[in-house]
Formats: sequence, C-alpha cells, structure tokens
Amino acid sequence: MAVPVIAIDGPTASGKGTVAGIVAEKLGWHYLDSGAIYRLVALSALKRGVVLTDEPAVAALGSQLDAAFRGGKVWLDGEDVSTELRREETGNAASKVAALPAVRAALLARQQAFGEAPGLVADGRDMGSVVFPEAFLKIFLTASAESRAQRRYKQLIEKGLPANIDNLRHDIQERDARDASRAVAPLKPCADAVVLDTTLLSIDSAVQFVLDLVAKRRVGTLKN
Ligand code: C5P
Repeated sequence: MAVPVIAIDGPTASGKGTVAGIVAEKLGWHYLDSGAIYRLVALSALKRGVVLTDEPAVAALGSQLDAAFRGGKVWLDGEDVSTELRREETGNAASKVAALPAVRAALLARQQAFGEAPGLVADGRDMGSVVFPEAFLKIFLTASAESRAQRRYKQLIEKGLPANIDNLRHDIQERDARDASRAVAPLKPCADAVVLDTTLLSIDSAVQFVLDLVAKRRVGTLKN
C-alpha cells in the first residue's frame, strides 16, 4: 500500500514548518522540511564559491549533497550547519537556486525518499503539486506578508541571529515574487489544496485544523 503523505505548502514564514513538524510528531510520522534541502544546496554553493546562477554546477552539488538530519541538527559535509541554514541570506540564496529547473530535478528523488511508513508530513512549495502529487491531504498555509515578517523577526532574534524588520518585510516580498513567478513549480495553491490563512490563528489552532482534516480524510479512505 502507498505510504500516506500530507503536503503542506506555502510562502516563507507562514508557519508551515512548525505546523508540519508538530503534526508529524503527533501522528508519529516522518517529517520532510524540503526548504532545508534547497537551503543546503545554496549553502554548499556559497561555501565552495560556486556561482548561484551556474545551473549545471549547482545541480551537480544537489545530486552529490552530503547532508544528514540527525539529533535535531543538520549536517553538511560532516559539519553542523543548523544555525547557518536558518540565516536569511541562506534562505534568499535558496530561493535563487530553487528557480533553476536542473536543481529541482536533481533533488526530486532525494525528497521522495522521505516517503516511508507509517507516513510522511512534507512542507515546502511544491510538495502537493510535484513531489507528492498523490498526497491524500494538501494544505496551502499562508499569512499576510506583515505578520510573516513579524514572525520571522521573532524567530531570528530568538536564535540570536541578526534581524531588521524593514529588511525582512522587503526580502519576504521579493522572495514571494521570485517563488511565485518562476517557470518551474511556482508557488501557488494546488487546485485540490485546502487554503488556511494563519494571520489571526495560533500554531495550536492551525495544527488542530490539520489534524481534524486528517481524521476526516482517513475515515473517508478507510470506507472506500
Ligand atoms: O521554506 P524555506 O524558506 O526554508 O525555503 C527556502 C527557499 O527554498 C524558498 O524561498 C523557495 O524558493 C525554495 N523552496 C522551493 N521548493 C520547496 C521548498 C523550498 O523552491 N519545496
């Protein structure tokens, strides 16, 4: 039987990573943070001095990526890069390499390999449209750009990383525009996705909303 997948897509800082992680934990399922994979490729390129627009070279880094998610940390070439990975510069660089079709193709199988029993909760931009089109539940989590900038600001400050609210608002809008306008896997809700605006919702309410949908859909699946 196919492994059940929940796809949670949406723009940066919409809360999708937090919600997806908690839903995965509550269900006892695996969790894929696909943004982290794009961030790792970007970081690998930056560390090796590979130009972010050199599509074949960045795609090659993607196919050979030596990365691991272990003990709550992220490792690249044996080095703990957990903090560097969350920097805004890394996110912006990730959005640039993610616009290159060869890079997306190089990362497809690596992401699909996370789909193991008993189930997977995957978050990103194209989980429901490209990577796991057969997902039994697709959610598009969004929030206003202003509240996403505020959330990202809080996250960065809590991690002791540099942050400026005006720059963040600007970067978020620029990143949304790049992610939404690219030719491959642009950021937009799938026709069969449930859209959830979290601007005025707490994390707990968003998690409960997803869990309620999971319960309803799974009852439907079992009956069929
Ligand atoms: O979600 P996060 O901010 O970590 O993602 C970093 C960048 O990686 C995004 O701005 C987006 O361009 C890219 N990305 C993507 N497809 C995914 C996940 C992330 O294009 N599935």
